Amino acid sequence: MTDPRKSDTRSPSASSAATSSRVWSTKSSRHAGTGNADVDQTGAGAGIRRVNVVGIGSGGLDQITVEAVHALRAADYALAAVKGPPTGASEWPTDPLFARRAELLERHAPGVELVGVPDPERDRSSSSTSTHGDYRGVVLDWHEARAEAWEQAMAQRPGDVAIPVWGDPAFYDSTLRILDRIRERGRLELDVQVLPGISALQVLAARHRLVLHEIGGTVTVTTGRRLQEVVAAGADNVVVMLNSDLPIDELTDWHIWWGGNLGDAGETLVAGRVGDVLAELRAHRERLRAEHGWVMDVYLLRRGAGAGRGEGTTT
Ligand SMILES: C[S@@+](CC[C@H](N)C(=O)[O-])C[C@H]1O[C@@H](n2cnc3c(N)ncnc32)[C@H](O)[C@@H]1O
Repeated sequence: MTDPRKSDTRSPSASSAATSSRVWSTKSSRHAGTGNADVDQTGAGAGIRRVNVVGIGSGGLDQITVEAVHALRAADYALAAVKGPPTGASEWPTDPLFARRAELLERHAPGVELVGVPDPERDRSSSSTSTHGDYRGVVLDWHEARAEAWEQAMAQRPGDVAIPVWGDPAFYDSTLRILDRIRERGRLELDVQVLPGISALQVLAARHRLVLHEIGGTVTVTTGRRLQEVVAAGADNVVVMLNSDLPIDELTDWHIWWGGNLGDAGETLVAGRVGDVLAELRAHRERLRAEHGWVMDVYLLRRGAGAGRGEGTTT
């Protein structure tokens, strides 16, 4: 990914929330009509803020829809989280997915400023996340910290906001929940609209020329963390997202259609019996991380022998 930085601006007067004491911006001066970030600390008088949550597709710069492009162009600025270790004041963040959003804006909505808000740290210790309840608690705390940081960033910048969301906002993305929290906090009045995007699971299906379920059948979408329980409950077609690993050693006879870094230069596709391809998949995950600085994968698992494309290609 290219580095589309134009400047690094700090917001020296940003208030005490540690997570939002600094923001990054693709512009040194504010976009016309948005006011001055260092003046308006309260958001007071800004009135109802229009917030477009814009699905941008899953990596390919041209996966975005025309209506989503219009929404980006109409915004006074765009807002996105910046993940990863903090960088110095003069360094552009290393987060490759933030960089991809900047590239996307440059291509489709040039002139619209991208403001990056440092993402609060999430507790990933195994003791805090070992059960689903613990995991949920940790995520909810993190959402609250994010809501604070985003609220502050928006309070500092009046105007209509676009939030470019990876894939589609409906799948494993917390943006809508965070905006709900900001509304509940009562400091900012938000009018939120969603523009759908192409999710990674759709790109996976397209690349492998797949229908995700058998004729009239069911597809379950879940996370790597919950795969075992979904399989135990009898699911036959399972799309798995949010994988820190490939927890499929026990599913030797299932068929897998796998996609890594879809839409990006490193896009990799593999299909086959799990027992035959698992080692290869693990190697691809390592390679993608090493070569491209990030790896994201999604896969369809289909139960049992004879799970070749067959029925799956028919509606
Ligand atoms: C936080 S979720 C966001 C999903 C997103 N909202 C969507 O609709 O695709 C991130 C997960 O989506 C999947 N994913 C997103 N982009 C991907 C890509 N380009 N290639 C493969 N998997 C991807 C991976 O499972 C990753 O762990």
